[in-house]
Amino acid sequence: MQESDTKQVVKKIDVRVSKPYTIFVGESLKDFIAEQLNGKRIYVVTDSNVYKFYRKFLENLSDNIYVFGSGEESKSYSTLLKIYDFLIEKGADRYSCVVGVGGGVVGDIAGYAASSYMRGMGLYHVPTSLLAMVDSSIGGKTGINYHGLKNIVGSFYQPNDVFIDVNFLKTLPNREYISAFAEVIKYGIIMDMELFEFLERNIDALKKRDLKVLKIVVEKSVKDKVKVVEGDEKERGQRAILNFGHTFAHALESITNYEKYLHGEAVSVGMVKAMKISEKIGLISGDDIERAKTLLERFGLPVDVGIEIDVSKFLEIMLRDKKNKNSSLRFILTKGIGISIIAGGVKENLILEVIGEDN
Ligand SMILES: NC(=O)c1ccc[n+]([C@@H]2O[C@H](COP(=O)([O-])OP(=O)(O)OC[C@H]3O[C@@H](n4cnc5c(N)ncnc54)[C@H](O)[C@@H]3O)[C@@H](O)[C@H]2O)c1
Ligand SMILES: [Zn+2]
Repeated sequence: MQESDTKQVVKKIDVRVSKPYTIFVGESLKDFIAEQLNGKRIYVVTDSNVYKFYRKFLENLSDNIYVFGSGEESKSYSTLLKIYDFLIEKGADRYSCVVGVGGGVVGDIAGYAASSYMRGMGLYHVPTSLLAMVDSSIGGKTGINYHGLKNIVGSFYQPNDVFIDVNFLKTLPNREYISAFAEVIKYGIIMDMELFEFLERNIDALKKRDLKVLKIVVEKSVKDKVKVVEGDEKERGQRAILNFGHTFAHALESITNYEKYLHGEAVSVGMVKAMKISEKIGLISGDDIERAKTLLERFGLPVDVGIEIDVSKFLEIMLRDKKNKNSSLRFILTKGIGISIIAGGVKENLILEVIGEDN
């Protein structure tokens, strides 16, 4: 990773993976993005909400814009086929570029379309949700849901570049905005004490969406994810630390039919559970857990399940989670705040105990 400033307003983070690219972070980048993409054959893919708010910006990028209905249900095979139809109809070839402008749903499906159309065409991400800025637009994972299975079809496909303009966050619904802070706090807990403390100090400004502070937080988060991805591009080992809190979160999302919790909210609860397991095997103190819980709660994120759950059914779902190898539970645990480890062989009764607490 290398960083530098261009024109003092745009932060440049170079990502050194198999196909190197740059992530630009700034506060008002619409003209900059248009300039950077000028002269390329651009096919914009976006969703209905983003189109509604940013139509002028999108039309300025290209005459070829594909808009699908917003929401996770659109991350489907049928939307993918419609994107192929659009690309064929508009004469796209492999020298053309897809520009995905939107949240993680747009990024994942636009990325997969670009990776598979004519065996791979150009791809730019313009993330507009906080989750997409700090997480899904970085690291090259693309994909769609199929047969009710999340991200079951997909590829690793690095973009040409990523443009992050925090100004987009002004129109993001509050629940979406807050929920993404779970992933930001995750970086703090697993690897970045400085970020964790910065969040503690700046929570009020962040809740008010102060763009200067947001830019700093997005930049720090991007750098953390880049650091992990550079070390393990295809998730063969260390990249798994990014799944901190996620085994529990996926089970919680699944058992509540993806209706009660946004992903970040489930991750928030999941991180507390993972910390409790860490505490039971002596890796983290009760004080550190309280400190993390306080930060999550100050953002308005949930820290316990809050509903009756069938503990054994819950464990069964956790065991099925694809991230568990050889059916022995692999957990990302923390040593205090700022350091994480991948632990195998966590005992089932310990997990049952932690699932059962607080409800
Ligand atoms: N590829 C990866 O590495 C990766 C990582 C994490 C999550 N994901 C995927 O990301 C998806 C979730 O992403 P998400 O939380 O961004 O969801 P999303 O794309 O559905 O966006 C959330 C909502 O906000 C709206 N929106 C987005 N930007 C907006 C803006 N600037 N103003 C107003 N509304 C806006 C969207 O239309 C949508 O209604 C999931 O499908 C998940 O699997 C992928
Ligand atoms: Zn996540």
